[in-house]
Amino acid sequence: MTTLDTGFAADAATLWNDPPTLPTKWLYDERGSKLFDEITRLPEYYPTRRETEILAAHSVDIARRTDAALVAEFGSGTSTKSRLLLTAFAHRAALQSRSLRYVPIDVSAEILTQSSHDLSLDYPAVSVEPLLADFTEPLGLPSSDGPRLAVFLGGTIGNFEAAGRAEFFGRIADGLAPGDFFLLGADLVKDTGRLVAAYDDKAGVTADFNRNVIEVLRVALDATGLYPDDFAHIARWNPGEHRIEMWLRTRRDVDAYFAALDRNWRLPAGAEILTEISTKFEVESLESELRSAGLAQEALWTDSQEDFAVILSRR
Ligand code: SAH
Ligand code: TRP
Repeated sequence: MTTLDTGFAADAATLWNDPPTLPTKWLYDERGSKLFDEITRLPEYYPTRRETEILAAHSVDIARRTDAALVAEFGSGTSTKSRLLLTAFAHRAALQSRSLRYVPIDVSAEILTQSSHDLSLDYPAVSVEPLLADFTEPLGLPSSDGPRLAVFLGGTIGNFEAAGRAEFFGRIADGLAPGDFFLLGADLVKDTGRLVAAYDDKAGVTADFNRNVIEVLRVALDATGLYPDDFAHIARWNPGEHRIEMWLRTRRDVDAYFAALDRNWRLPAGAEILTEISTKFEVESLESELRSAGLAQEALWTDSQEDFAVILSRR
C-alpha cells in the first residue's frame, strides 16, 4: 500500500454500511494521485482552471495582506496551483529579507515526495518541509516567527460531510493563532449538466479514478474475487444536499473475500457503493460557516464566470 496507512482494517468497517462507503483518502494511492492529476487537465473539469485564474490574479495581494512566513497546505497533491502563491510569497519575503517556509501536507507519499523535491529545486529560497499526515486527524502546525497561512485548495472542502466540515474548520481555527490566516478554495453551485460532466468525463479518466479504489481495497485487504471491471462509475447530482455523488455500481454479483479481515463482502448485481461526495457551495453559507468557526473574512474572490470562490479569512 502506497498511501499513509492509518488503519485500513478499521476504515473498512463502512463497507458493510447501507449504502457501503469509503473514506476519501483511499482514492489517492500512487495510481489514484496520477489519475487525479490527469482529471485536473480534462476539458470538462473546470475547477482547476477557475481556481488557477483566481490565484494568478490575486496571489500578490494575498501575500501583501498576510505577510505570511509559513504557508501550510492541506491536501497539497502536486502543489501545481500553490506555485502561484509561492512565487508571490517568496518574492515578498525576499524584498523584506525574510525567509519563507512551505509545509505541504498530504496522505499520498509518492506525490508528496516528488512534488516537494521539484519545489525545492524550483524555489531555492523557500524551505519546503513536507508532512505525511491525515488532515481528518488533529495535527499541530509548526510554529513560526511571523504570521502563518493555512491553505486548502481544489474544492477538497466539498469532500467532507457537513459535520466533518465544521470539525475541520474548528481544527483549523484551533491550530492557528490570532492574526494567522486561512485561504480556502471552494466550488460553487452551477448548472447541473456542467457539474455532472466534470465528474463523468468523455475520456473516462474519472471512471478509472473511481474504480481504482477497488484495486486499492484488493491490495490493502488482500482480497480475492474483487475486480475493478465489475463496477460501473456513476456521477449523480443530489439536489437536496447540493452535491455531486460518486458511486460504483456492481455490474454483476460480487462475492469477495478479504483475507486481511477474514470477512466476506457480498453485493448483488446493481448494488451501489458511495465512494465520494463533492459538495458545491453558495457563497453566503460558506461565509457563515467560517464565521461560526471563528474565522473572520478578509477577502473573497471569484473567477470571471463565478464558478469558483477563494476566501481569505483571519483567525
Ligand atoms: N490541492 C490539489 C489536490 C486536490 S485532490 C488541487 O487543488 O488540485 C485532494 C488531495 O488531498 C490529494 O492530493 C489527496 O492525496 C489529499 N488527501 C485526501 N484525503 C486526505 C486526508 N485525509 N489527509 C491528507 N490528505 C488527503
Ligand atoms: N476534490 C476533488 C473534487 O471534489 C476530487 C475529485 C475530482 C473527485 N473528481 C473526482 C473525487 C472524481 C472522486 C471522483 O472536485
